[in-house]
Amino acid sequence: MSDEENCDIKQLNDNITCELQLENDKLEDDLLAVGDIEPSEETTSEAGLSKRARKKLLKRQQWLDTKHERRAKEREKRKVKMAALKLVKEFDETRVSSRKSLKHSKMSDSSCKVGVVFDMQFGDLMTQRDLGKCIKQIMKCYSLNRRLSAQLQLYMTSLGGSVEEEMSKHDGFKNWDFNFDSRRYDEVFTRDRIVYLSSDSTREITHLEDDKVYIIGGLVDHNHHKGLCHEKATQLGIETARLPIDQFVDMKSRKVLTVNHVFEILATVSQGKEWKEAFLGVIPERKGAVALKDEEKAEEDIPETDKFVTLEAECEDIMEKIKEDIVKEESTCDDSLTVS
Ligand SMILES: C[S@@+](CC[C@H](N)C(=O)[O-])C[C@H]1O[C@@H](n2cnc3c(N)ncnc32)[C@H](O)[C@@H]1O
Repeated sequence: MSDEENCDIKQLNDNITCELQLENDKLEDDLLAVGDIEPSEETTSEAGLSKRARKKLLKRQQWLDTKHERRAKEREKRKVKMAALKLVKEFDETRVSSRKSLKHSKMSDSSCKVGVVFDMQFGDLMTQRDLGKCIKQIMKCYSLNRRLSAQLQLYMTSLGGSVEEEMSKHDGFKNWDFNFDSRRYDEVFTRDRIVYLSSDSTREITHLEDDKVYIIGGLVDHNHHKGLCHEKATQLGIETARLPIDQFVDMKSRKVLTVNHVFEILATVSQGKEWKEAFLGVIPERKGAVALKDEEKAEEDIPETDKFVTLEAECEDIMEKIKEDIVKEESTCDDSLTVS
C-alpha cells in the first residue's frame, strides 16, 4: 500500500475514532452527572437514598455491567465501517479521489449551491471541552464535504473570541475551503435565503433548495439550553424548520441531533438520496431509530443485542430528563431546602 493510501486510511480511521469518541463522551457525561446526584428531602429508603437516587445508581451499575458488551459492539461497528470505507475508497480511487485530487476539487466549482452555515454565536455558552467537541463535529462535516462529488457550500459565521481561539488550534484553518465570517448569519445573507434548522420548529423542511442557506446552531449543550437556537432565530424573525424525522422514522429518544449528524443528513439528501435513507443511515443506533412502516415487524424481530441498544437509548432519554429536572430544581429550590 502506498504512503498516500496509508494516509487516507489513517484519516478515515481517525474520523471513525472521533465519532465513537463523541458518542462515548456523551454517555460518560450523562453518567458523571448521575454520579453527582444529591439525595433529596423525599428520602425513602433505609440506605438514606431517595427513590430517584437509587434508580439512578441502578442505571449507573447497569451501564458499568454492560461495558464489555458495548466495547465489543463498538469494535464490531468500527470493523464494518472500515471495511465499507475501504470499498468506497477503491471505488473512488478509480475515478478521482486521491488526497491530491481532493485538493483540486473546490467548493466553488460544485454543481450544488445549497448552503450550510454553522452559527457560532453560542461559543461563550459552552465549556472549553464542549466547544472543542463542537469544532471537532464541524471538522467532520468539512472532511465529509470534501469527499462529496457535489460539495455543499459551507459557511461559519460569528467567528471570533473563544471560537476563533479554539479554531486556531487547527493549523492553517483559514486556508480551508470554507467561508469564514465574523458577522452573524443574518448580516451575511438576506432573510429570504435563510432557514434556521431547529428540532423545536413547528415547520418541517421537505426538500433542499439551491441558493438557500440552512443554519445549524454550533452548540454542544447536553440540552442545557433547550430551545435556545429556535428562540434566538424567532426573535430575529427568521424562518425555522425541523428535519422531517417524524414522517419517516420512529425514534425512541429525543430528536435533537448533533451538529455533524444534521450535516450528514443534509449531505446525503443533497446527493439525491431519500430522507428515510439518510435518517436510518446517519442517526446513531443508540437513538433507536426505526423505519416507520417496518416498525411493527421490527418490534417482533428485534434481536437481543438491538433490544439492548433500544434500552440504552431509553436510558439516555431518561437521564437527559433527570438532568433537566435537577437543573430546574437547582434553580427553583431555596438554599435552605438543599440537603447536603
Ligand atoms: C445539539 S443541537 C443544539 C441544541 C440546542 N439546545 C438548540 O437550542 O437547538 C445542534 C443544532 O443541530 C440542529 N438540529 C439538531 N436536531 C435537529 C432537528 N431534529 N431538526 C433540525 N435541526 C436540528 C439545530 O440547528 C441545532 O441548533
